[in-house]
Amino acid sequence: DLAARFPNDFLFGVATAAYQIEGAANEDGRKPSIWDAFSKMPGRVYKGHSGDVACDHYHRWESDLDLIRSLGVDAYRFSIAWPRILPDGRGQVNEKGLDFYDRLIDGMVARGLKVFPTLYHWDLPLTLAGYGGWTARNTAEAFAEYAEIVVRRLGDRMDALATINEPWCICHLSHLYGVHAPGEKSPAAFAAAIHTLNLAHGLGVEAARSVRPDLPMGIVINAHSVYPASGSPVDQGAAERAFEFHNGLFFSPLFEGSYPAEVLEAYGEMMPIEDGDLQTINQPLDWWGLNYYTPLRVKDDGSADTLYPRAEVVPPKPGPDLTDIGWEIYETGLSDLMKGLYERYSLPPMFITENGACYNDEPVDGAIGDTRRIDYLDKHFRAVADARDAGVPVKGYFLWSLMDNYEWAEGYKMRFGIVHVDYDTQVRTLKDSALWYRNLISEHVSAR
Ligand code: FCB
Repeated sequence: DLAARFPNDFLFGVATAAYQIEGAANEDGRKPSIWDAFSKMPGRVYKGHSGDVACDHYHRWESDLDLIRSLGVDAYRFSIAWPRILPDGRGQVNEKGLDFYDRLIDGMVARGLKVFPTLYHWDLPLTLAGYGGWTARNTAEAFAEYAEIVVRRLGDRMDALATINEPWCICHLSHLYGVHAPGEKSPAAFAAAIHTLNLAHGLGVEAARSVRPDLPMGIVINAHSVYPASGSPVDQGAAERAFEFHNGLFFSPLFEGSYPAEVLEAYGEMMPIEDGDLQTINQPLDWWGLNYYTPLRVKDDGSADTLYPRAEVVPPKPGPDLTDIGWEIYETGLSDLMKGLYERYSLPPMFITENGACYNDEPVDGAIGDTRRIDYLDKHFRAVADARDAGVPVKGYFLWSLMDNYEWAEGYKMRFGIVHVDYDTQVRTLKDSALWYRNLISEHVSAR
């Protein structure tokens, strides 16, 4: 059975992120982030939804921790809101912000939950955007200061710390495709963001270790599982370029200390690389996290003079193989990717830091029969076990997400939770998938 395929020390967890659940956007000294601003601009987010209230977790954190505990999970992955700790990004520290996470972490420890925070899950203090945001080197320096402040106060109770969640979303999606805050569509901004972000990670790791050298440090990457749309050599070439463009841009500097040559050729002049930066970025890490939802299929874009990687994304066809957000379900993409990455790079042990599915099922007579989500999870757990059997050192799995929450540009329309949230009443209801997950974990525990 499924539970027996995971070793005794395998960690089962759930994941969330600050801006998606906390709300209390203007409380206790928090100032706006780029997402507070972006969500209020017409046309950016579905129906103009914002994280002002979200799941009101800032006020309901105790009962939310009880809820997490009731699932039987070992660990909780959450993020710390930079604009609560340093409302202007750097400078004045807001003690009330630190106090909140201090209580939250104590609450996790009291409930026997392992503490897996992420320092940055997209809520850049808006003040820093005024200095160039992720395109400006001073943001990387500010990130290191923030990391040090957080680890000094909270690091003693952390089990593992991630610097940054999903560099791809921060660079590609936010600065090249314009979909996420700050909504840039500029190759130059994109190129600058790539390097600033990688540098921020490196400086952040150094800063955290300067305070607590033994804290297990990592980063969370939504690596893409890239496939050519056809067997033709041109499409295979496109898939290889797309791999470097979507994955290599992060994996090569982080784990090998260099940027992929072809990417440097296309974007290098726009990347503000200084002497020594690549050594700073290439810190030995204790672990890394993979977020996986769906594969990426590409074909050659047929043109020689568009910007690298000249690979066109082939969107999936509508049908039952898509979740409600339109993402293709392909669990082999997960096992292929895990195995492929370890063949290609020399990587430390890993966690699945996010995996899950969007299905917008609503309660019927008080129950949410999200059997499609259970099916998705079952398949992906098996894919993780397959990769593990093939030798991939995967230590745990965090399900995205604990509860329905603010799904960025999709607002509250798209639901990824195993717990349903009624946004009018803030009532939480376990979906059938939560019962399924609880059962999987309890089977695992009784076999331990
Ligand atoms: C990931 C994000 C997470 C959530 C899921 C669905 O890209 O890290 O916050 O939005 O997608």
